[in-house]
Amino acid sequence: MDNLIDGRAISEQLHAETTQRVFALKSRGVEPKLVFVRVGEDPASKVYVGMKERTSARVGIVSETRVLPETATEDELLAILRELNNDQSVHGILVQAPLPKHISETKIFSTVLPQKDVDGFHPVNVGKLMLGDITGFLPCTPAGVHELLIRSQIKIPGAEVVVLGRGNIVGKPMAAILMQKGKNASATVTICHSQTRDIAGHCRRADIIVAAIGVAEFVKADMVKPGATVIDVGVNRIADPAAKGGSRLVGDVDFARVQPIAGRITPNPGGVGPMTIAMLLQNTVRAAELSSP
Ligand code: GUN
Repeated sequence: MDNLIDGRAISEQLHAETTQRVFALKSRGVEPKLVFVRVGEDPASKVYVGMKERTSARVGIVSETRVLPETATEDELLAILRELNNDQSVHGILVQAPLPKHISETKIFSTVLPQKDVDGFHPVNVGKLMLGDITGFLPCTPAGVHELLIRSQIKIPGAEVVVLGRGNIVGKPMAAILMQKGKNASATVTICHSQTRDIAGHCRRADIIVAAIGVAEFVKADMVKPGATVIDVGVNRIADPAAKGGSRLVGDVDFARVQPIAGRITPNPGGVGPMTIAMLLQNTVRAAELSSP
């Protein structure tokens, strides 16, 4: 069945555009640079940062990774961020979440300069999103989902959208992006979460479902209206004795059963994941462009 929304292919289009912009910057002496900061040895964070480093290199963005031990203090991390904020050669700073519990993510994300905040987590950028001010940086995963919908010609204005999950990284900004005024937005958005009554009923009315709830295969076939678009943001590790290492990754959507009912659907992997990285690199090149107009 070919109703897949191919995030890999669409991310390659974005990489081609980003590569052009990097080339234009370099031709006028600007070398776009992104610095990753990772604290501790969380295996998933290592994989994510590794993928972001390799993709940066592919589009010509210089990157550097600072690794701090799990025991690093909040002050040590803040000192590194201040140094990177003051370094004119650094255009983007990304502190990989989650951070150890003794470090406040709120404090860390508020310390990265808004104009270097390519993750879109600084309160100034969050506020600009809420105000519909397009000069801010959008968080990469919801921006990537938005781009997937646009480039797949899914009609957004007037659509009934259900966002499953209310997190600061995906759910909340996703809802804000899709509800704001504009030709590629203006949806009617419902956010569902753990206290929502009748999530299945909400989902069945949706033209577009964005699943970012963090529960393996939560979206079942009987929750999806025939022809609806289903976007799976989830990454969940589940036990599977037959799999290598005794576990495997699944999304928030029961893909095998939902695919025949959905109009369009993202595979997972190969849907949203590559788009998150593409948007990060697009944000970085934009930060570099804005730093030297
Ligand atoms: N952890 C999970 N998602 C993200 C993200 O988009 N950015 C950062 N920095 N950390 C994350």
